[in-house]
Amino acid sequence: MPAPVFDPARPIKIAPSILSADFAALGAEIQAVERQGADWIHVDPMDGHFVPNLTMGPNVVAAIRPHVRTVMDVHLMIAPADPYLEAFAKAGSDVLTVHAEAGPHLDRSLQHIRELGCKAGVALNITTPLSVLAHCLDRIDLILVMTINPGFGGQKFTHAIVSKIADARAMIGERPIWLEVDGGVAPDTAGLCARAGADVLVAGSAVFRGGTEADYGRNIAALRAAAG
Ligand code: DX5
Ligand code: ZN
Repeated sequence: MPAPVFDPARPIKIAPSILSADFAALGAEIQAVERQGADWIHVDPMDGHFVPNLTMGPNVVAAIRPHVRTVMDVHLMIAPADPYLEAFAKAGSDVLTVHAEAGPHLDRSLQHIRELGCKAGVALNITTPLSVLAHCLDRIDLILVMTINPGFGGQKFTHAIVSKIADARAMIGERPIWLEVDGGVAPDTAGLCARAGADVLVAGSAVFRGGTEADYGRNIAALRAAAG
């Protein structure tokens, strides 16, 4: 398995969310989007408690791992997350992201993720201020700014969050922290995110719409062009 690619020379990463892929063919779907230029693969475990939807657990994540040649970016929408960090790390996560709202001890969760050998990510729901990160920035490798209420693909981008993306970029300063945006990212919103300072764009429905590999290639190219 090649090492995760955190390549600063190619600043905008397109990270297809396999939530919108064909769940009966996840391995083939991952291979198809990677052939078509996906930089990372975004994976969305949900617990039916923190968010009103159920998706996949560590066994499914481990099963898809051999198909991911880029970076497996795992966005946990589960609470509590701490009891499952080890299982998702062993499943092969490169980036492991917890929600700031998912537990009372974010600093401990972040330390644990790094101890497990993963890059540590924090996701913020729409109403959660960036200030919750002020005292743990040195433990963070990725900030995920949600532009929808998590739980489902295909929702509308929340324009009020563009200024939060810009504020997150300012907060990051020179630190080696990725700034990821998730929810409603499509050709008409990708540019707003990139100009505000995002460098990883998650997109589910905007990548997988059409359902063929040729569609995925066109969709990823359209996102990249829009992101500039
Ligand atoms: C939703 C997930 C997203 C989802 C985005 O809670 O975190 O990653 O797949 O889907 P789109 O891009 O369709 O909004
Ligand atoms: Zn996600």
